[in-house]
Amino acid sequence: MSITKPTILVTGGAGYIGSHAVLALKSAGYEVIILDNLVYGHRDLVEQVLQVELIVGDISDRSLLDNIFQTRKVDAVMHFSAYAYVGESVTNPAKYYQNNVVGTLILLEAMTAASINKFVFSSTCATYGIPQFIPITEDHPQNPINPYGATKLMVERILADFDVAYNLKSVRFRYFNAAGANPDGLLGEDHDPETHLIPLILQTALGKREFISIFGTDYPTPDGTCIRDYIHVNDLADAHILGLEYLLNGGESEVFNLGNGNGFSVKEVIAAAEEVTGKVINVKECDRRPGDPPALIGTSEKAIKMLNWQPQYSGIKEIVSHAWQWHQKRHK
Ligand code: UFG
Repeated sequence: MSITKPTILVTGGAGYIGSHAVLALKSAGYEVIILDNLVYGHRDLVEQVLQVELIVGDISDRSLLDNIFQTRKVDAVMHFSAYAYVGESVTNPAKYYQNNVVGTLILLEAMTAASINKFVFSSTCATYGIPQFIPITEDHPQNPINPYGATKLMVERILADFDVAYNLKSVRFRYFNAAGANPDGLLGEDHDPETHLIPLILQTALGKREFISIFGTDYPTPDGTCIRDYIHVNDLADAHILGLEYLLNGGESEVFNLGNGNGFSVKEVIAAAEEVTGKVINVKECDRRPGDPPALIGTSEKAIKMLNWQPQYSGIKEIVSHAWQWHQKRHK
């Protein structure tokens, strides 16, 4: 007798973190449907690597959502689709509030109407704002300093209220700096425009950029550059499976940090990339980028204890080497 595994709707499943989660869901035997508007997602990765159903559409299209929920038995939703450029969120906040908050609200209303009450949400350490203490725990005050972080915090609040009113159970994951790529080279990070440190360093190593700008060398850190907590995207994906299973087993709504627990400075990441690629990476020391806290490091003890999460990749060299493998293949 075969036991059918639950069906999971993954919004943003053609994007960076979403695609890694889809692969992990598939490996764990789940049925997966991706909903992605393909503004930033990649159809080729869905068709060639993930090989699951792709519905091209927007989370704010209520009639599309109603149709999906009426015609398929969806047991839970993993919600990755969001705009996530911090700088753009400052210059165009309307776009961020519209998509990340209003779009998510429409999705949640459609779920509630269809009596689907399990939701895994991608939140961010950007909801904490400037850290008051390090490592950051889940009960650290949340004071985002940019609209992107504010949109994620608003959704966290909506989820808490939807639990009370409509019994919607959610796991809210606050990611630190997602990085790396699938170790088998199947998937990776491919943003356009790219703003993140590791892909930009690797593009420099590939000769696609002349240099990597170091945003600030006068921070109160040992080498003067910003420290971040880089968490491997496969470890993030594993946590999503555990969070989903926690909800499917009747768990109450919870919030978890997902980070590495180790911080690496910009200069340390560049040094790791030089070792991994065997190339000298040209750097240009620049002014600070507005809004960058000197150090962001989280503790994920709660996810480790409650979800039995066992992150595999804590070293920066391993994270960078998986990303390098992907970038060499993707940007030949
Ligand atoms: N950096 C550089 N040069 C670059 C790009 C980045 O020096 O060309 C530095 C940044 O100043 C920062 C570090 O590298 O200190 C990491 O920057 P990223 O842009 O890769 O990542 P962020 O820490 O800014 O952003 C990440 C997530 C966001 C999230 C944020 C929370 O990508 O979604 O963490 O702080 F909101």
